Amino acid sequence: MYGAIRNLLFRLPPEQAHTLALAGLDLANRIGVLKACSPTIDSFPVNVMGLDFPNPVGLAAGLDKNADHLDALGSLGFGFIEVGTVTPLAQPGNPKPRMFRLPEHQAIINRMGFNNEGLDHMLAQVDKRRYQGILGINVGKNKDTPNEDSESDYRKGIAAVYSRADYITVNVSSPNTPGLRDLQFGDSLMRLLEAIKDEQTRCAARHCRYVPIAVKIAPDMDDEGIRFVARALRSSGLDGVIATNTTISRDAVQGHENAGEAGGLSGAPVREPSLRVIRGLYEELGEDLPIIGVGGITDGASAAEKIRAGAKLVQVYTGFIYRGPALIKEAVEAIRQLP
Ligand code: FNR
Repeated sequence: MYGAIRNLLFRLPPEQAHTLALAGLDLANRIGVLKACSPTIDSFPVNVMGLDFPNPVGLAAGLDKNADHLDALGSLGFGFIEVGTVTPLAQPGNPKPRMFRLPEHQAIINRMGFNNEGLDHMLAQVDKRRYQGILGINVGKNKDTPNEDSESDYRKGIAAVYSRADYITVNVSSPNTPGLRDLQFGDSLMRLLEAIKDEQTRCAARHCRYVPIAVKIAPDMDDEGIRFVARALRSSGLDGVIATNTTISRDAVQGHENAGEAGGLSGAPVREPSLRVIRGLYEELGEDLPIIGVGGITDGASAAEKIRAGAKLVQVYTGFIYRGPALIKEAVEAIRQLP
């Protein structure tokens, strides 16, 4: 059934299709048919970062930036949902068009630029939710905040969402906020991780509850960069790493009419680059720090290979757009069958 819906949606410009699809999901959920149409997923519990996940396949950040669709998305069988990226203040993002399909590659290029309604809206939406599953909230910095002051935006984000989130993700890897990814390297990374840990410690004392924090990184890193991030994360005392965000590389989609669009490429072409980062992180970290694998999961095999490479959980976004909810069950079953 999803195939037919997708064919209709794909006749619309991508961002319009996205809005319409989510409105349709909300409606189907409200009238009580969504759960009945969604695949049943047998429980496959995993404990990661001290949290009990009903299954290891989650929704990646960016699809529900404002937590406006939590109840509908929560009915589809995901083991967890990550909302955001949310920035302290609302911001419009980049001019449209800013999302492009590359169906021949099961891929998307986006340069959304953290379009979102800001922290206050997100908190109000989260407070209204009926969704009872695991909720990750992904925080970022406003475009107008200079990198030198980014620490303050991340602190604001963490402090604001702390009491509502099961885990928090710090996003330093979007290619669509100028300079953001510089925060993944050298002294900038060390200083930022220290500030994040400090904010987590303050919030834990204030709320008498420890909320794990993961850092989300890009796939466009050389081996030395991956080792550096791994060591920095281990010494930071933070709780996990999400690998990876979209790639700026166009190697895998050369010649496609949309290959020249600026932004981050996701879907099948980022599978291999993400896997390389996961393998590099696992080589350095072993079991010290859990890895959440994301990038190019389009079927059961590509989900299972991330777990084999060392990830403890996986997330999907672009594959979910192309394949629909059937992908969740397929990924869970493929992971369940791993030795
Ligand atoms: C994203 N992604 C993303 N990630 C993030 O941390 N914050 C965000 O706001 C967004 N926004 C966003 C918008 C769009 C349109 C896409 C396609 C992706 C990245 C996403 O969470 C994921 O890391 C990558 O897309 C790689 O996974 P897939 O899509 O290949 O499964």
